[in-house]
Amino acid sequence: MKKNLLKIAALSLAAIMSIGVLSSCGEEQQSDDNNTSADASPSATEKLVMGTNAAFEPFEFTTTNGLVGEFDGIDVAIALEIAKSMNKELVIEDMEFDGLLASVQTGKVDMAVAGMTIKPERLESVDFSIPYYTASQVIVVGADNTDITCAEDLKSDKKVGVVLGYTGDSIVTDTLMIDESNITRANRGIDVVQDVKNGKLDAVVIDSYTGRALAEKNGLKVVEDPEVFETEEYAIAVKKGNTELLESINKVLNELISSGKIEEFAQQYN
Ligand code: ARG
Repeated sequence: MKKNLLKIAALSLAAIMSIGVLSSCGEEQQSDDNNTSADASPSATEKLVMGTNAAFEPFEFTTTNGLVGEFDGIDVAIALEIAKSMNKELVIEDMEFDGLLASVQTGKVDMAVAGMTIKPERLESVDFSIPYYTASQVIVVGADNTDITCAEDLKSDKKVGVVLGYTGDSIVTDTLMIDESNITRANRGIDVVQDVKNGKLDAVVIDSYTGRALAEKNGLKVVEDPEVFETEEYAIAVKKGNTELLESINKVLNELISSGKIEEFAQQYN
């Protein structure tokens, strides 16, 4: 319901925007394949640039008619609320997950909203908002797999896929210390999940919500191991010392959490 309302709002704003573009002919219209924006308010002029990696359903993914251009998901809905509250236009830059922290650090983007887990090593390069969601890792295996029932089982010469730079990558590499020759690193979850489907890999370690979504779509199953895979917290990353933006973000997140809005978004996209 809410999603439709937001979509209608975004569409009518897009219509208003395109009239503006038509009447100011001669002016060059900026277009960039990876860059989509939606006005958070008709008078918005300043941009709020969100960096993400839109291959992480249900948090961010691309679709024909997304909330902001082709982009949709829980994080997009949250970022839209933040932009709205700041009276700014939300612009989304889609990139590889591995490049997000550097983009925040150099100011290429204002914030990374990407289901990003708060981690001590990341806190060295960026500042994080308050957490807005909790998740953990899961193991995605073939539907009739019986020999992987916990994380420890991955160590017995199993071919394991992860996404480069995700939490799952560091767990498989540093915590479980799986032999490098048995690890496959891809840029998107779907790439390694496909390999489980076609038998090239035994398992994929990935975030719980995305893992469940991918498993469901591909006829695979999910194995949990809460003892090894601890709870992680997702938060928004901003450039170190950008307290002004961080405060605006935290204010909106607090409101969205206490009003139950984030849970509502999650229901919509699950
Ligand atoms: N939570 C994991 C991490 O921070 C994975 C996040 C992936 N996000 C994405 N938008 N692709 O490492």
